[in-house]
Parts: sequence; structure tokens; C-alpha cells
Amino acid sequence: MINEYKKYLNDTEFYDNSAATVKGEYEHQDILSLEAFEKASKEITSWDDYSITPLVDLKDLASQTGVSKLFYKNEHYRFSLKSFKALGGAYAVANLLIGKLKEKGIIASSKDLLAGTYKDITSKITVSCATDGNHGKSVAWGARSFGCNCEIFIHSHVSVSREKEIAKYGATVNRIDGNYDDSVHFADKTAEEKGYFTVSDTSYEGYTDVPKDVMQGYTIMVDEALKQMACKPTHVFLQGGVGGMAAAVASFILETYGKDSPIFVMIEPTNAACLLQSAKNGKPTVVHGDLETVMAGLSCGEISMLAWKILENKTKGFFTIPDEPIAKVMKYLSNLEEPVVAGESAVAGLAGFMIIQHNESYRKALEIDENSKILFLGTEGDTDSLVYEKMVGKSSADVLKKA
Ligand SMILES: Cc1ncc(COP(=O)(O)O)c(C=O)c1O
Repeated sequence: MINEYKKYLNDTEFYDNSAATVKGEYEHQDILSLEAFEKASKEITSWDDYSITPLVDLKDLASQTGVSKLFYKNEHYRFSLKSFKALGGAYAVANLLIGKLKEKGIIASSKDLLAGTYKDITSKITVSCATDGNHGKSVAWGARSFGCNCEIFIHSHVSVSREKEIAKYGATVNRIDGNYDDSVHFADKTAEEKGYFTVSDTSYEGYTDVPKDVMQGYTIMVDEALKQMACKPTHVFLQGGVGGMAAAVASFILETYGKDSPIFVMIEPTNAACLLQSAKNGKPTVVHGDLETVMAGLSCGEISMLAWKILENKTKGFFTIPDEPIAKVMKYLSNLEEPVVAGESAVAGLAGFMIIQHNESYRKALEIDENSKILFLGTEGDTDSLVYEKMVGKSSADVLKKA
């Protein structure tokens, strides 16, 4: 099965970020920190229906690929939203409302918001953001749960089923022309005109506080994963959109393990490789075009400024992959004895690894060998159920019937 991935090598690009002090100390506590994680963890784990998502030990695949361990964190079971994004956007909404109440002299927690204690105040607030699906769903869910209004902006490539998933939580959803980055700019402009509060998962000059909360929320996922692994990873494969998820994971691991941190490898779609291009140029670089890829959550042309600060000197390898292997990995996981429902963006890291294993010089640069213990973040389940069914050949319900 692993041999089926060799042919994709021709459609990839590898950048060895050898200048990076990959194993240096973590020094960005002003952006993300274990201290702020504790606060996020206290809030998020207090929400109804919080539970730890499973970590899957891919034993067969590890032996087929000649490494010691492959662990896959399965975010299909993250609240009812089926993606890790549930942790970030919703947490930032809660924090924003808590901050607004504090301005009025009220000290509240997300539990108070869930109970509707300050609904008379929060119901006058509107949060908004641009999204390619999962982040907007998290913000909409957070707005409904914590008692404020929500307006979401999607771009022309976002599927109708993703649009419906967001609208399900009561948000107003607007579709605009252009790509993800166009929708970010449009959402910002509208928020300014209408007095909305932007809850974005990407950061830029002058807009950093909310995205810090979003990313800090994601660190709950990696805390769970490290506890579940019961051993230290040697490598972490991270798929990148704007880089927020990757930076959150890296920050937590770097601050936890310091000089003994694992090697980080970034995987992006060929058509939306803003992190690889930024690494190559040694500075943030925008990727233009329609950014179209089946990995909808990774379809971003501009990096998150804060995420880049964490990743630029700590990511050893950057690798771009085409769309073709994605369905293959999704199907493989769906056919396991204990089936895993994994969405298009969730399997990018694993797909990248399967291809990299066919190139000796990449393996060498990344120090991947028979002792490697690799962690993958399976960031979503079938968040677009129609696309999932088309790519895997059956619905997630049918896949899980086997279990
Ligand atoms: C399922 C999934 N995985 C990964 C990512 C990438 O996260 P980021 O944009 O923070 O790099 C996203 C972003 O939307 C996503 O939806």
C-alpha cells in the first residue's frame, strides 16, 4: 500500500529549512504559553460535552513504513463539530464576551455565558469572521452557545454543505467573490462599518489578541495527545493553512520539551503553499491564485503573522503535496479494523509522510528512521459530508457501522 504513494513524489516540493534552530528554546510566551494554556484548558474543559478525542495507534502502517510508531489524533469526535477548530473560535468568542462584560465591571466565566446569565448584554454584540468552513462553524457555535449574534463570510469555493453547517448554528452567512484571503479582507471591512467584533483565526499587523486566543484554544488538542502517547514524539507532521494550528501545536511542545523537542514538518497543498514560500524567501510571502485544493481547510495564501513568528525558525521541513493522494489516505483510514473517519485536510500530514518515505534524502534531512515516533493531527472528520462520501465511497455512518 505504501508503494502507491511513490508516484506522487514528482508533484511535490521539499524545502529543507536547515538554517533553523529547530531544537532551540521556546521564546514566544508573549504569543502562546503553557500559562495561557492552563486558563484555556480550565474554560474549555468546563463546557458541556467536552471529552478527550481518541489517539489512534497506526501499528500496521508503522511497520509498513519502517518506523517505530505512528499516532493519529482523531478530531472527528471534537464536540459535535467534528474538527479541532471547535476549540479555537468558540474559546475566542467566550473570551471576547468575558472581556466586554469586564469593561462593565462584571467578572464572568464561560459557564456563566452558557447559563445565559448576562444574555441581556451579550445579545447586543455581534461577532464575525471569514472562513473556509471549520473556523466559521466554531465561531457560530460559540456565538449561539455563549449568547451573542454572528455573521460569517465565505468565499466562492466554500461548498454549499459547509455553508449549511455554519447556518445551522443560527449565523447569517454571506458568500463573496474571490478566494479565502479576499473574504478575510471583506469581513474586516464589514465589521468595521457595522461595529462587529472580528474573531479571526489569522493574525496581522494590529490584529493579534483574538487570534492568540483562537490558537491557545487549539493547544488543548496537543495536551491531550501528549498525555495519550505516553512517549515523546520524535516528529510531528503539521498541515498548514495560515499556520495557526501548527504554531499552537509547536508552541506547546517546544515549551514542554525545550531542547529535546521533536522535529516539525509542515505539509501544505501545492496550490496554497504560503508557509513553504515564506520559508524559502526568509520572510512572509503571499501566494496568489484561486488556491483551489480538495484540502479546503488549507486553502490559504497568506500566513498568520503570529504563527509565522513561532514556526519560521522551528520548522525543519516544508513539503507540498498534490490533491491526488488525499482520497487514498481517507479510504485507508476508513477501512481499518477500527475505522477512522478523516476529512480531506485531516490526512494531509499523513499523506505527506507516505510520500516522503519514498525519498531517501528527505528522510535523511528529517532524520526519519526505524526509531521514529511520529504524531499526526487528524484535524477533522467528515466536516463536508458530501465531499467525504464522494471521496471515500460511503458515508461516515456506513464507515463507522463496521466498528
Ligand atoms: C481541518 C483543518 N485542518 C487544518 C487547518 C489548518 O489550520 P490553520 O489555518 O490554522 O493553519 C484547518 C483550517 O481551517 C482545518 O480546517
